[in-house]
Amino acid sequence: MGYGWEGETVRLVPLDKEKHIKNALAWLNDADVTAWTLTGDFPVSRFIEEDFFDRMLNQPAPHPTDVVFAVETLAGEEHIGFSGIHRIEWRHGVAVTGTTIGAKHRSKGYGSDAALTRTRYAFDVLGLRILLSEVMADNTASLRMLQKAGYAEVGRIPRRYWKRGSYRDAIIMTIERPA
Ligand SMILES: CC(C)(COP(=O)(O)OP(=O)(O)OC[C@H]1O[C@@H](n2cnc3c(N)ncnc32)[C@H](O)[C@@H]1OP(=O)(O)O)[C@@H](O)C(=O)NCCC(=O)NCCS
Repeated sequence: MGYGWEGETVRLVPLDKEKHIKNALAWLNDADVTAWTLTGDFPVSRFIEEDFFDRMLNQPAPHPTDVVFAVETLAGEEHIGFSGIHRIEWRHGVAVTGTTIGAKHRSKGYGSDAALTRTRYAFDVLGLRILLSEVMADNTASLRMLQKAGYAEVGRIPRRYWKRGSYRDAIIMTIERPA
């Protein structure tokens, strides 16, 4: 095992402003990347993103509320995305997950591998029990990626989010640590 947490094709590594912030700004301000995400409807400045990196990296151990990784390829250490575990509820062992993969690296299995690696880390290292993700029903790629990574649909909230001109259903996807 090298640096970070390794999957088959990707590595989850700590956020590094020098290496990762440029892509973060490009992706968070790209209307295609954020077509079905909760972020991306307001401009994200370098100041806001640097503050986010600082907050993510400076959380009190041993119980941070968020663990955010950059996703890099195993083969070339190329930065291709972000993978996060958010709103960690340590008492309940539950957290919310999110993934972004840059447009030119999509549909190559990187997102699914990052999600599988994140799940292993969340269950085996952090000791969490349930990961959940709320996905807009129109976000076919995210639903497919989460299914491939072992998440299953457990519910749907009709017209949950206002996004790009309509109210969108939210699908609740979860994965539970085997007993
Ligand atoms: C969701 C996301 C992380 C998936 O990353 P990825 O690296 O492309 O994921 P994978 O390649 O592992 O799997 C994607 C699957 O969805 C499929 N897919 C991609 N786009 C699709 C589309 N428009 N319609 C149907 N299926 C689609 C792919 O073919 C693949 O399935 P397959 O392996 O059976 O062919 C990426 O699309 C992304 O960053 N989207 C923007 C941000 C986002 O919406 N994040 C999730 C918020 S809940």
